[in-house]
Amino acid sequence: MNLLTTDKIKFVIPTKGRLKDPTVELLQKAGYKFRVQGRNLYATCTTADIVFIFVRADDIPVLVDSGVADLGITGGDLILERGSDVAEILKLGFGKCRLCVAVRDSLTEDSVGYFHGRKIATSFPVMTTRFFKAQGVDIKCVEMKGSVEIMVDLNLADAIVDIVETGDSLRDNNLKVFRDIGSYETVLIANRAVADDPRVMQIRRRIEGILVANNYSMLEYNIKCDLLKEAEKVTPGFDSPTVSKLDLENWLAVKVMVKKNEVVDVMDRLEALGATAIIESEIKNCRL
Ligand code: PRP
Repeated sequence: MNLLTTDKIKFVIPTKGRLKDPTVELLQKAGYKFRVQGRNLYATCTTADIVFIFVRADDIPVLVDSGVADLGITGGDLILERGSDVAEILKLGFGKCRLCVAVRDSLTEDSVGYFHGRKIATSFPVMTTRFFKAQGVDIKCVEMKGSVEIMVDLNLADAIVDIVETGDSLRDNNLKVFRDIGSYETVLIANRAVADDPRVMQIRRRIEGILVANNYSMLEYNIKCDLLKEAEKVTPGFDSPTVSKLDLENWLAVKVMVKKNEVVDVMDRLEALGATAIIESEIKNCRL
C-alpha cells in the first residue's frame, strides 16, 4: 500500500511506552482489528478504512498537526511540549499523569530558587524551561530521550522533569516529587481540517461508546410503584431509567445505567428502600 496516495484514514498510535497497550486494547474493543507483521511500522485495519501507523507518542502531535496523519492518540503533555495545533476531540480517560520536577529523595531544600544555574535533565525541555522561567529561575536544561530517572544518580543533573503516573519509576530510582508542573491524560486528536469529517466522527463515536461502557454498569431491580420516585433519585440513570410493568400487581422493573464506582453503594441504598432482585451486569459497548 502507498501511504501517500491511500484514501484510508491515517491513524497514528504509540509504538511503545505506557500508552501503547491501553491504546491498542481500546481500538480493538471499538471494533478496529489489525495485526502487526514483523517490524512493520504500519498495519491495515481489517474492519474499517484505516491504516494504523506506529510512531513514538511524542512525535504523534507533529504528524497530526502537519496533516501527514488524520488522527492520533497521544498524551496531552506531549501536545503542549511539541506546541502542536491539533483538535483534541475526545479525552480517553487513561494514561492520567503529572509532569513533575523530581529530586533525590534525601534533598531537604524546598525553594525553586535552589535550582538557579543548576542542571535539569528532561525530555520536556520546552515545558521545563517555561516552568522555571515563570518562577524567575535560570536553569541549564539537559535534553534526554529517555531513562531520565537515572540522571540524578549519574550526577548528570541536580533534578529531573518527567512524567509520573504510579510513582514507581521515581521510587525505584531514589527520587521524590519536588513540584507539580501540570496534570494530563491521553487524548484522541485530529488534524483540524478533518476534525468534522463524518469518517472521523464515526471513529470518535465508536471509541466514546467503549469509554462509557467501561465506566458504567447496567443495574436491574424490582420496586413497588409507590417507591419508584424515591428509587429514581438513587438511580437517575445516564438519561433516564427504563421502567416496565411486572406481572406482579403494584411492582415495576427498572433498568438503569450506574457508574461502576458507585454500584455497591447504590445497591445498598436500593435494598434499604425495598427494591428486590437487584442485579448488576456488564455493558460491553453502547451508543447514547
Ligand atoms: C513514562 C515516564 C516515566 C514513567 C513514569 O515513561 O518517562 O519513566 O512513564 O510512570 P510511573 O510513575 O508509573 O513509573 P513511558 O512509559 O511513557 O515511556 P518513555 O520512557 O518512552 O517516556
